[in-house]
Amino acid sequence: MQRPLIIAPSVLAADYSCLGAEVKRVESSGADWVHVDVMDGHFVPNISFGMEMVWMLRRQTGLPLDVHLMIEQPDRYARNFIEAGADIVTVHLEAQHNVLKTLRMIRDMGCKAGLAINPLTLVENALPLLSHIDLLLCMTVNPGFGGQTFIIEVLDKVRAARKYIRDHNLDVEIEVDGGIHADTAGPSVAAGANVLVAGSFLFKQPDMKTGVDRLRQRVAEVSSAG
Ligand code: DX5
Ligand code: ZN
Repeated sequence: MQRPLIIAPSVLAADYSCLGAEVKRVESSGADWVHVDVMDGHFVPNISFGMEMVWMLRRQTGLPLDVHLMIEQPDRYARNFIEAGADIVTVHLEAQHNVLKTLRMIRDMGCKAGLAINPLTLVENALPLLSHIDLLLCMTVNPGFGGQTFIIEVLDKVRAARKYIRDHNLDVEIEVDGGIHADTAGPSVAAGANVLVAGSFLFKQPDMKTGVDRLRQRVAEVSSAG
């Protein structure tokens, strides 16, 4: 069964001086989720924003908020992001925490749980956790900044994870994040991803809908060819 394609613009690339208008652009583009990149300056060498951003976005939109925690202590803060209105909270395998315990806590609070792995992390380390999560995020750049180049080798991990999910009859989305644009969307979906995060590609479009349509079109072309 083909999973529906989900497009998730990353507000990291938005103009924060007019965030309300930026959220409206996302809504009218036909995108499915809003991706929220939280960075703490420790886990990644950059600082973005915290739970107040999620509170604010929650008041602006009914779209699912897909919160990606690039923070060292997700076990300490995940709860706050859920209370702020996150629909999915994704934590990194590489962070300093008991991963399974954090994932269980997220689910126990009625939120969807995601697990993220960096480009150099072996997918084999994530496979045993797939039955405890709703989403596997395969980073296609080293986390920390928007606008980087897609690392195509990560698609081998996407393929392996999709096979494991299929073989074990699990219900897990596979998300790719970093360097997604018209040329990388198709190969990502062909490898088994069904959630595409895109920051700079979508926010730099004068009309975001053009970008979302382009991603969907490229994915459709690849799907019909394969
Ligand atoms: C990178 C973030 C991404 C980022 C993607 O650390 O996790 O979500 O916003 O940005 P682009 O699409 O510009 O590569
Ligand atoms: Zn992200």
